[in-house]
Amino acid sequence: MKKNILTEVQAGILEPYFRKNVKFYFVKFEGDRELINKWLKQLKITSASKQREYKADYKTKKDSKNYIDNRVITNLYISINGLLKLHEDNIDKRNTLRGLLKGSGSYFFQGMKEEGVIFRHNDPPIDKWKPFFYQEDIDALLVLAGSEIDSINNTLKDIGFKKEGYEEIITIDMEGLKGGRVGQIIGKETGHRMTTTENGETYPIEPFGYRDGITKVKFFNDRGNPEKNQTDIVLDKHNGSYLVFRKLKQNVKEFNKRVDELVGKYNKVTNTRNSGNVSKNPKKFIEGQIMGRFKDGVPIALWNGEGTVCPVPQSDIDKFNDFHIDANLAMKGTTYSSLDDIGQKCPIHAHIRKANPRDDNRKGANPGLFLPSSGNPIPPAIIARRGIPYKYTQDDQGLLFMCFQRDIFLQFSRIQYRWFNDNPYGKIDTGLDGVTGNYEKERRSTKQRWNKEWGKKDDFYFSFKDFVTLQGGEFFYAPPLSFFGQPDISTLISDELKRP
Ligand code: HEM
Repeated sequence: MKKNILTEVQAGILEPYFRKNVKFYFVKFEGDRELINKWLKQLKITSASKQREYKADYKTKKDSKNYIDNRVITNLYISINGLLKLHEDNIDKRNTLRGLLKGSGSYFFQGMKEEGVIFRHNDPPIDKWKPFFYQEDIDALLVLAGSEIDSINNTLKDIGFKKEGYEEIITIDMEGLKGGRVGQIIGKETGHRMTTTENGETYPIEPFGYRDGITKVKFFNDRGNPEKNQTDIVLDKHNGSYLVFRKLKQNVKEFNKRVDELVGKYNKVTNTRNSGNVSKNPKKFIEGQIMGRFKDGVPIALWNGEGTVCPVPQSDIDKFNDFHIDANLAMKGTTYSSLDDIGQKCPIHAHIRKANPRDDNRKGANPGLFLPSSGNPIPPAIIARRGIPYKYTQDDQGLLFMCFQRDIFLQFSRIQYRWFNDNPYGKIDTGLDGVTGNYEKERRSTKQRWNKEWGKKDDFYFSFKDFVTLQGGEFFYAPPLSFFGQPDISTLISDELKRP
């Protein structure tokens, strides 16, 4: 029988959580696989359909504009280490298998700590990752999202979470046995939704102060049903998905300082602050060029270049998700489009333009699903971003970055390596992404091109980088719900091993 995709897919993949707090528990499995599987089977993982039910129910009760629901969403993701523990008790056999899988070329099987993967993303060496648990093998990531911390803590008790001295462990009661130890929580993180209120409207932001959560990959059609073409971007044939988790520390103080320096340089090189269409608000103009959106979310590609007013009304914020940078559409006069092939309006190094070159096909950026000679559709480099900010102190804040996709190498890694970390773009030497690009030392220049005037070919160079540092992370699989009910969750890995 064909399984219903929404009862199979874990919550949080096709739609964001919409919860104020998200807790992350990094688990090391202990004990034998029978015990671990038993624990997995009784976990009440939230499905995409349950999430929709909660949302519909909540909408009937509340004004859904700033939708916050208090019901806890429970998700579990498993790393390659975890999957191998579920597949094979014998450590030697497990290691042999790990070796075989590393050769498969799949980034999930390699893991984020693999030398080649670190090299490609230009990530800091593992001995610099902190807290220390990130340097260890992580088997699973349990994510609990809820509006109140108390309800998250209650859910933890149901899951079998216990404190034993300094250790935080997970246990399960099995028939005939007093209780078995399933694993240990080796690390924790807590994310909180950050918001700001402007003109009476409250919206989410990230620690640098930019509006976040605008871009939505649409997985549902107008009738509310999942669209296969779209869900193929994030789901594999089992209705599972691959998760990239990265703790990204943001140096907000240095970022703001460098923005001021960049504005200083802008004022110096333009020296015509109040004439022509040179921005009357240089800081806003620079902030827009860094992200590709002003702090309130308006895309700089659609700005009218004068003063601070954007031609798109703020109430049309959803349309800021759907805009295009495309010659054909711009010439046809489509409302939310703009011809900007060399980055005179939105610099090509701007974060959202590097992350999603939209209709700009020069680099074969987002060709959509296509069939190469192998016959396997290649997903476009589009990801479903599901991160949440963290703030432990003023100096220790950033993003608990999460993104879902069908193939980590072709999606997340393509964006980070080919676009964020790379300097040239086609024939244009544009500079790396100033928000989260990791500079490759052998490249020519760290400097980006900054526009002096909106829509004109006149620019200057300035180096803007190094405000985001990877603290640790891992690649995980988000198994479909039926995997948790099977006698052996390792079906997936067997499938992969059987692949020609
Ligand atoms: C601390 C680091 C980061 C910060 C502060 C940041 C910030 C932002 C902001 C403010 C937006 C615009 C909001 C929106 O469109 O919803 C955005 C969009 C986006 N970011 Fe990031 N981001 C970070 C890291 C990353 C990473 C590591 C990736 C992936 C490799 C990424 C991929 C994207 C994508 C795909 C978009 C949507 C682009 C679009 O379609 O317009 N970001 N980011």
